Amino acid sequence: MSGAETISLALGARSYDIVVGSGLLEDAGARIAALGHHPPVIVVTDETVAALHLNTVMGSLEAAGVDARSIVLPPGETTKNFAGFEMLVDAILDGRPERRSLLVALGGGVIGDMVGFAAATILRGIDFVQIPTTLLAQVDSSVGGKTGINTRHGKNLVGAFYQPRLVLADTGVLDTLPRRELLAGYAEVAKYGLINDPDFFTWLEAHGADVVAGDADACRRAVVTSCRAKADVVAGDERETGARALLNLGHTFGHALEAETGFGPDLLHGEAVAIGMVMAFELSVRLGLCPAEDAARARRHLAAVGLPTGMERLPASATDPAALVAHMHQDKKVQDGKVTFILARGIGKAFIARDIDLAEVEALLQDAAAAA
Ligand code: NAD
Ligand code: GLY
Repeated sequence: MSGAETISLALGARSYDIVVGSGLLEDAGARIAALGHHPPVIVVTDETVAALHLNTVMGSLEAAGVDARSIVLPPGETTKNFAGFEMLVDAILDGRPERRSLLVALGGGVIGDMVGFAAATILRGIDFVQIPTTLLAQVDSSVGGKTGINTRHGKNLVGAFYQPRLVLADTGVLDTLPRRELLAGYAEVAKYGLINDPDFFTWLEAHGADVVAGDADACRRAVVTSCRAKADVVAGDERETGARALLNLGHTFGHALEAETGFGPDLLHGEAVAIGMVMAFELSVRLGLCPAEDAARARRHLAAVGLPTGMERLPASATDPAALVAHMHQDKKVQDGKVTFILARGIGKAFIARDIDLAEVEALLQDAAAAA
């Protein structure tokens, strides 16, 4: 393993390290052993990741003298529901964990969110470690302690804030990630630049193509910068009573689009976020809050790396403006009956807006659907 970087997320007794580097999977056993848990350590992953990376992690745990077993779930968002959660919890309980046992989430955001929620609830709370294997999970979902599952009412509506003990982001595993998944994760990387780091966005305009091509140095810098940004925000607002909501840039539109496409392969979460961020900037322009050139710049960059920026590739059945606005009303971010939007006064100047006229939103969606 070569030169890992460690970012500390400062949350008092719940503080933890996020380690970023290539080759961390080989090193995972020693780092997990150092946490000092009672056996068993239960590694949860999905079938795709198991075929590629589970042996490395299990071998590393064995070499470190850790008594570990594994659980392998079907891959994809359709596992992240009550039925999938029941299957996971039963399998974990079959392994007879104790309060001082440890779960390890080896996979993308689906595995991380489900295992985190299982850790929060099994025996009223046991520790867990995140080993994120998608770009999206490395830069976003593995950090910050949001865990949960989807319900028929919407995404992530059942869950808990529950922090991991350690995050190991091995950028080497991104080599096996399909390009479409890497791109989807890139949307969350660009998000940090668009929220409050215009210099990072400028860097991405120059080097984003290297990141999505899987260049090791570019990926590492993107992951480190993103994790640092997220750690700063979460340290200041763990339970999203204020500034953490900024991390939802693009998500009010994005979650509605995901719900309308059935959380399926038509639209990945990161793709929905990319479209949602373009819409948030466009709404900001229409409300006279943001220069049109900044919105154009955001759209141009996301399109240049190959992300969707409009509804062109979506089935027509998923683009109905009234249905999309109805989904927004079921979002976790609704407050006093008002839908929360993250808008922007420019690149790197995002802010929270709660008094938005939904007729304006519906008109924007109407235009976007007509252009598709
Ligand atoms: P995912 O977990 O479904 O992974 C995407 C696909 O990539 C899966 O098929 C998986 O098997 C495969 N995969 C994973 N790692 C791989 C690798 N190294 N090589 C080859 N294939 C690999 O999806 P995701 O995009 O990682 O995460 C999306 C989920 O994350 C959503 O459910 C979303 O709600 C959640 N999320 C949570 C937070 C949070 O703060 N908790 C933030 C953002 C997103
Ligand atoms: N992904 C948004 C958050 O963690 O707050």
